[in-house]
Amino acid sequence: MSSAPDSRAARNRCAKPLWETARPRFVYNAQRWKPLIPHTPIIDPNNMSYIRGTTKNARGITQAWRSVQSRGMADAAAPATRGTRPDSVVYLPEDPTAPLPLPDDATVFSMIQPTGTVHLGNYLGALRPWRSIQDRCEGPGQRVIYGVADLHALTVPHKGRAAAEALRARRQECVATLLACGIDPARATVAFQSSVAGLHTELFWQLSCLAPMGYLNRMTQWKDKRGGDPQRERLGLFAYPVLQAADILVYRATHVPVGDDQGQHLELTRYLAERFNAWFECDLFPVPRTLYCGGGHGKKVRSLQDPAKKMSKSSGDPMSLVYVTDTPEQIRDKIKRARTDSISSSFYFDPENRPGVSNLLDIVAGLQDKDMAAVEAECAGMRDYGAFKGYVTEVVVEALRPVRERYARFSGDAAYLQSVADRGADAAGEIAAENMKRVREVVGLGARR
Ligand code: TYM
Repeated sequence: MSSAPDSRAARNRCAKPLWETARPRFVYNAQRWKPLIPHTPIIDPNNMSYIRGTTKNARGITQAWRSVQSRGMADAAAPATRGTRPDSVVYLPEDPTAPLPLPDDATVFSMIQPTGTVHLGNYLGALRPWRSIQDRCEGPGQRVIYGVADLHALTVPHKGRAAAEALRARRQECVATLLACGIDPARATVAFQSSVAGLHTELFWQLSCLAPMGYLNRMTQWKDKRGGDPQRERLGLFAYPVLQAADILVYRATHVPVGDDQGQHLELTRYLAERFNAWFECDLFPVPRTLYCGGGHGKKVRSLQDPAKKMSKSSGDPMSLVYVTDTPEQIRDKIKRARTDSISSSFYFDPENRPGVSNLLDIVAGLQDKDMAAVEAECAGMRDYGAFKGYVTEVVVEALRPVRERYARFSGDAAYLQSVADRGADAAGEIAAENMKRVREVVGLGARR
């Protein structure tokens, strides 16, 4: 029955976006599948990928809607193409005494890899905020859990007995550093990822069954670390962000304090949490938010030798980073040799044109919990690099002095470090086990006997 006027009418209808012409039974709004309420806006194009209708009859429209629906499942809200939603990020107030903008039932969770000595980037982007959060999370329902991501450490080239010995030492060193940076096991649970490994990896598997390969393939860290070398293209490195999502979701964490480089991983975590909830029609996982501290100063500390890059454990150039355990002489030497520019008459924050100087100013602002204008004002009278770098050195040395001293104390006490990790494993394991019981119920697996 396809008369000419009818098909023209169908064409006209389909020239509009499909949601104005067809009536699917469910719509995906980036949170979950929702039944369609007729005559209400049914898709927010900012939140959802959609197709324009090109079909000519009702059956075609239905098929197109099925396609919309399945694309909703497959690609809608895919963060790699959408960027971070503004409401996904919470900035903690610069004033360390101000109350935290966290709900009473917040679960704060984060991890660090034991792949090298902790540096100033880890300290400013993560460990210092961790301490500040731990000190201020006092609500009866608030929980704080920090972990050493030792399973993740296996994704870097790791072979032979020497590598195993090095990892063993680094795990312990990492716990000692957390404590030296002020993480208090009486306020925050501190655990090795591998101590709760069964639950992290079980959820990892479940999330792997939801995670689109295309999305993982677009992750920046995968592209950087695979290095174009097929020998390094391991499944573990590819799937790493899914394990990270499982680390977070197994505790049903609501807030994750990390540095800037983890933004994409956090976006994937949100995507998988939403997708899990949508697929299984539940509200099991909160959609975790990224926490940045100190107004964002220090969330991306740059290499001292190449400010275009972040300060990184894997840089291979010890002069490019300051370790939190460096001596004052080492710190002085590294900052003295830090790459800057030829303008030595004034020091101001201009990351685009003066990346080296701006990095040093950002480090000072982060360490002193000051805003940039206050730091610039302190540098106003300085007329050469000797004065400026001397000032930066002083701030860094003084900020890291207590860390270095406490590290010397903790690192020699293997029994104490083990006891902290054991207690942490029990506490974290209890929370994760309870959550995984609910996950198993939701996906249709039996409870563990
Ligand atoms: P990792 O070990 O590389 O870094 C630990 C923390 O330090 C931050 N960070 C930086 N911050 C500012 N400037 C820098 N130059 C800098 N370099 C590192 C990182 O953002 C991070 O917060 N994948 C994670 C570990 C992980 C994790 C998790 C984190 C595993 N599971 C679950 C949070 C939640 C990593 O490799 O971090």
